Amino acid sequence: MKLARRIERLGTENAFVVLAEVTKLKEQGRDIVNFGVGEPDFDTPSNIKKAGIKAIEENFTHYSPPAGVPDFRRSIAKYISKTRKIEVDMDNVIVGPGTKPIIFYAISALVESGDEVVYPNPGYPIYESLINYVGGKAVPLALIEEREFSFDINDLKRAVSDRTKMIILNSPQNPTGGILSGDDLQAIAGLAIKKDIWVLSDEIYSRIIYEGQFESIISINGMKDRTILIDGFSKIYSMTGWRLGYGIMRKDLIKHMINLNTNIVTCTATFTQYAGIEGYEGSQEDTYRMVDEFKARRDLIVSGLNDIKGFKCLTPKGAFYVFPNVTEACRNLGLKDSKELQQLILHEGNVAVLPRTSFGSRNTEEREEYIRLSYATSRENIIEGLKRIKKVVEK
Ligand SMILES: Cc1ncc(COP(=O)(O)O)c(C=O)c1O
Repeated sequence: MKLARRIERLGTENAFVVLAEVTKLKEQGRDIVNFGVGEPDFDTPSNIKKAGIKAIEENFTHYSPPAGVPDFRRSIAKYISKTRKIEVDMDNVIVGPGTKPIIFYAISALVESGDEVVYPNPGYPIYESLINYVGGKAVPLALIEEREFSFDINDLKRAVSDRTKMIILNSPQNPTGGILSGDDLQAIAGLAIKKDIWVLSDEIYSRIIYEGQFESIISINGMKDRTILIDGFSKIYSMTGWRLGYGIMRKDLIKHMINLNTNIVTCTATFTQYAGIEGYEGSQEDTYRMVDEFKARRDLIVSGLNDIKGFKCLTPKGAFYVFPNVTEACRNLGLKDSKELQQLILHEGNVAVLPRTSFGSRNTEEREEYIRLSYATSRENIIEGLKRIKKVVEK
């Protein structure tokens, strides 16, 4: 079989590979504590579910316009205008089946073969995968533990060149839980404006934040017309399986994204979009409760991890991930890297975590080892999982 070369360049999201392995082990009767997967364990709030059911019963089961249901786009525009303190209207909004397609659309519409794209590393693996897929050059921007997983401005300056077409940001961040400060964003905006670079700002965890203030680069003067903001319903409303996300961008760019929707998916499920209207317009109580619970779990998991020999874990300010440094544990156990530790923890400890290698290519000089744990699971699971990891690592 002779495949197109681009398909060989496409990476994957290892969380789903580990999930398949966990499912197989579970089928064999193994009891696995799963810190691998990045989705809230809460149910979709009942008012949103009811709105979705009502929409089906009222026969909103046909195609919607490719850009999205107008009332939903208006509701998103209102939400973004308020939360990001900018003026946008429905024509700046494209709805997609999740935020992932919008990431793909933005990269494929703007990045030519050979163009450079600066992306966070460690980071959400889909960025690197899609940059490579379209033939762009993926330029990693290291996120540094000592800086609470922000970047060094000198690294950013070195990463940007005359060929840089786009900088990708993600704050709060997967996999580290770090957030970018106002100063970080100002530095990026300054460079983007000076060098005429697009910014793709993935803000899917913007409301899962425990300390500090969420800030968006799109709010900075001069950034609105060069920012593609993406956000969605998967995380904050526990709607991963509904598939609902959107992008905000200038109107002369959005028409190409809408055309991509037309070519690829036609539209997002119409009743799902009606559920989304209820998400933004209805009660937010469930989201507050969920974020409070995540904060308690974060504190529990951070203190438990710091109690394991050879683990060192910062307290992240956002998202629902921790990214402990496990360099010393690997050394103590005679393991080559975090991948070997992940396998040991899975097969001997019956606990699923993800290794550093799941979050972008490693620089050859990188010496530190990390794993990611998602604490979107119950406190009982967290306590049990930590007990098992401790047993394996300190044996
Ligand atoms: C940083 C980041 N962006 C995007 C997504 C994809 O979300 P969606 O379900 O909206 O496609 C995820 C999901 O894990 C994520 O962590």
